[in-house]
This record gives sequence, structure tokens and C-alpha cells, in this order.
Amino acid sequence: MAIRNIVTEGDSVLRKTCRSVLNFDERLAQLLDDMKETMYKAEGVGLAAPQVGILRRVCVVDVGDGVIELVNPVIESEEGMQEGSEGCLSLPGKSAIVRRPMKVTVRAQDRNGNTFTVTGEELKARAFCHEIDHLNGILYVDKAIRKD
Ligand code: NI
Repeated sequence: MAIRNIVTEGDSVLRKTCRSVLNFDERLAQLLDDMKETMYKAEGVGLAAPQVGILRRVCVVDVGDGVIELVNPVIESEEGMQEGSEGCLSLPGKSAIVRRPMKVTVRAQDRNGNTFTVTGEELKARAFCHEIDHLNGILYVDKAIRKD
């Protein structure tokens, strides 16, 4: 495993739309392992592949109850609403209030290509939405409703 560099705001890679993962190979496993290590080192609760310069639909989330690896994630359903403070490892030292669903169900593939669904509420729902936005070139500041 290796720590990868986290790109920051202003790098155009953060504004691109990521491509789907088609090959569930050793290279994907390496990317996921590196992303997890990089997220933990940076003390984040999520990290998306474009943040390490890779334009693929891959992200990792860990809000404190174990890592979830999401490959080709899609939000299948959402419920309710929450407003809360959000930050991003690519925008260090900044935060703002963002409105998100209170609960989301995500359909994704694991590193072997098996499809699964996972439901998250509160912080986990927020993290899923934030990381999936990254795969579409969207940053939380685009959705911020006010300063925190
Ligand atoms: Ni982020």
C-alpha cells in the first residue's frame, strides 16, 4: 500500500466526470488499498478517486464504523433532509453548511465486481453524497448554502 497525493482545489482533475470501472483487477485493488490508507492518514471520512488524480468511479467512506468501498456507486433512493457542516480533503481548512438527504441507499460494486446496496443515515449519508458528487466533478462548495 502507498499514500497517494491528494490534489487540491484548482486542479482541473477535480472538475472532470469519472469513467466507470470495467476491470475488477489487481490495479483496482491497489487503488482502493491506497485510497483507504491515504484517507486514514489525512483523517478524512471519505475519499474519491479524482482526489488522487484517477478519473474512475471509485470512492471509500469510513465514518468510524468500518470502511465501505464503492465502485461505480449510484444513489438509488434518498429520504429526508439535513443541513450540516461539510469539508473536503481537497479544500483543506475550509468548511460550509450543505443540505443533504438524511438517508440514502447506494447501489455499488465491490472490488470483485459484486453488486451490493448500502444504506447510510446522517453523517454516512452525507459522506456518500459528497463522494459520489466528486465522481461527477462536483465539490461541496458548489452546493453550500451558507458559511458555518
Ligand atoms: Ni471531498
